[in-house]
Amino acid sequence: MANHLQALNLCYSPVLRDINLSLEPGELVALIGPNGAGKSTLLRVLTGYLSPDNGQCLLHGKSLCEWSAQALSRHRAVMRQQSQLGFDWPVDAVIAMGRAPWEQADSRRVVKQVMDLTGCAPLSARKYNTLSGGEQQRVQLARALAQLWVKDAPQGWLFLDEPTSALDLYHQQHLLRLLKQLTATGQLHVCAVLHDLNLAALWADKLLLLHQGEIVAQGSPQQVLQADTLRRWYGAEVHIGQHPGSPTPQVFLAP
Ligand SMILES: Nc1ncnc2c1ncn2[C@@H]1O[C@H](COP(=O)(O)OP(=O)(O)O)[C@@H](O)[C@H]1O
Ligand SMILES: [Mg+2]
Repeated sequence: MANHLQALNLCYSPVLRDINLSLEPGELVALIGPNGAGKSTLLRVLTGYLSPDNGQCLLHGKSLCEWSAQALSRHRAVMRQQSQLGFDWPVDAVIAMGRAPWEQADSRRVVKQVMDLTGCAPLSARKYNTLSGGEQQRVQLARALAQLWVKDAPQGWLFLDEPTSALDLYHQQHLLRLLKQLTATGQLHVCAVLHDLNLAALWADKLLLLHQGEIVAQGSPQQVLQADTLRRWYGAEVHIGQHPGSPTPQVFLAP
């Protein structure tokens, strides 16, 4: 059975039009594109929260609608763009929510391992609703990793919607290094909506550029992050340079 996630002619009217893509195991893929391009909607369709009007989405060769809710939640986890909670739970209980699809016996051990990995341990006794936006994002990442945790590491498909939008420099670097390290094992496969093209350039294996519900460019950071491509699809005037410490392109806005 093909171990990848494939979208075939996906349509979700009026937002997405004829999307074809394949996410390969062990990759960190960044979904980029201007505001309103359909990135969050595409993530919802790829994860089974929205059903396409046309086309289908296959995980390991089987249509998402044929997966049971429990099996699907053991194979893919989602971190949404905003995650407010309507109840006043402590952080460790929010992270333990990720263990709902699994036997509860090892929940405490997994929550501890995930908190150590994501740097959430100092927040563990705090009430989630009292955390800053960036702290809540770190806890949501921990919850999603807990959901995919098998033995000593996360396995499966992780989808993140703007996971770095509220993070400071240290935590942006920490999150992306962590995702890169976990995908390099081949066990975790990541698709993240990223607005910061320079973070995407440094850490993503592949970029998918979405515009008005269609994939208009895809490939390596070098292939996609070109001045004329960004001018055309974002309408922004940019210069492309090279990162001083890495052979990757970096985007600079023209003043
Ligand atoms: N169910 C819907 N019906 C009509 N328009 C929608 C629906 N859901 C989202 N949209 C619109 O589709 C566009 C894409 O939304 P979204 O996927 O959130 O974009 P992005 O995440 O790229 O900013 C937006 O203009 C949004 O208002
Ligand atoms: Mg969005």
